Amino acid sequence: MVKPSSITYKQKVLIYLDRFSNLENDDRGEKPEDITQKGIAENLNISRTHVSRIVKKLNEEGSLKEKKESVKGHHKKLKTYYLTSQGIKKVERLLSELSEIKVDLVIDSEEKELSVTKIEEETDGEIDALTALHLIEDSKDNRIDMEELTPKEPVVSTEDAHKVEEIYGREEELKEMKDWLEENTPVMAVLGRRGSGASTLASKFIDDVEGMHILWIDLKKVSVQDLEDKLSTFLDKIENQEADLDVTDTIDELLNKYALLIFDDYQEVQDEIVHFLSRLLQEFENVSEGKRSLKVMITGRVGTPFYQRFYQQEQIERGLVKEVKLSPLNKDDAQRIIGDEIKEDAMERIMMFTKGSPLLLKLLREGKEEELCQITPWEKEQISLLMYLKTKRKE
Ligand SMILES: Nc1ncnc2c1ncn2[C@@H]1O[C@H](COP(=O)(O)OP(=O)(O)O)[C@@H](O)[C@H]1O
Ligand SMILES: [Mg+2]
Repeated sequence: MVKPSSITYKQKVLIYLDRFSNLENDDRGEKPEDITQKGIAENLNISRTHVSRIVKKLNEEGSLKEKKESVKGHHKKLKTYYLTSQGIKKVERLLSELSEIKVDLVIDSEEKELSVTKIEEETDGEIDALTALHLIEDSKDNRIDMEELTPKEPVVSTEDAHKVEEIYGREEELKEMKDWLEENTPVMAVLGRRGSGASTLASKFIDDVEGMHILWIDLKKVSVQDLEDKLSTFLDKIENQEADLDVTDTIDELLNKYALLIFDDYQEVQDEIVHFLSRLLQEFENVSEGKRSLKVMITGRVGTPFYQRFYQQEQIERGLVKEVKLSPLNKDDAQRIIGDEIKEDAMERIMMFTKGSPLLLKLLREGKEEELCQITPWEKEQISLLMYLKTKRKE
């Protein structure tokens, strides 16, 4: 008998495309994105490159055909895919095999056993056969409880995130972060010099994230034990239970949650934390792309010494980690932090000293001479000069 886990991606794509068969001879306007490579990838949660390989093979086998058509939301014509009569026959055979798989479906606390191919009808289209197969693939019993599937409010633990009052520039970086959420890369490192605004940017970013569970961990404040406790509490809240799992199982469970972990201020961390994060990265490598929904963002410094890095260039190249490096603010954004419009030459000298660092510009605006003295190599006279320069307003 077929097992849910033995169904290949190729077969999944065939079953998926089956429902769009009636579109082929429909000449009314544009086709939906669902039957393009992008749509297939998104709906089946497979990477684009993988989909492109699969459709190529299926095409060669004669199970599907490719067209080039206008697609909703796209200016250019795109490749669209339809089953051939051979493909349709394959799907029929496949579905009849799959109909042997029985599922216990729980709706309103009533349980009934039915064939996986009948689920779509029974749930009024809420769960189709492919989704059902995906759901029972990881479970020990073939049980699907509708109650457990209804989305709950996301769990958001972000007490330690920064309160963002102002943020200038950084539009590109924020866009990169948003795009990253849609990509397959699980880890993002936001790197900058001290005070370049990595933590601020991450805080701003999560303000706009919707529908994901979010946990913010300030690495300065935690030991590895605290960190593991926080993760396990977070998971319990998501699952609404007290499972008391060890850390390996906790991570394992978290990997397929639609969740975002922010590890803030990864700098001068203890070795244990470095190890913890390399292990986490290893876990990401061990699961297939389709099964990892967890995203991890880390803020830290450029120039973290080699022995303190939990990833190397190799992991970036393999698409496990994406880096965003924060550049200095430009003169206009720096001017915005200072507030008043300052004369050109004075502003230029301020830029020379602060090198567009948001932190230094902010301390300058607030007149925090002592703090500037502590964190920069500047002499008292230079700081006094800066304080004077920022008063040189444009008339
Ligand atoms: N783009 C920005 N616009 C305005 N202020 C900023 C910006 N980025 C950072 N800041 C301010 O600079 C200071 C340092 O930012 P922070 O995020 O703590 O830096 P990092 O985490 O990189 O060390 C904070 O007071 C923050 O409010
Ligand atoms: Mg920080």
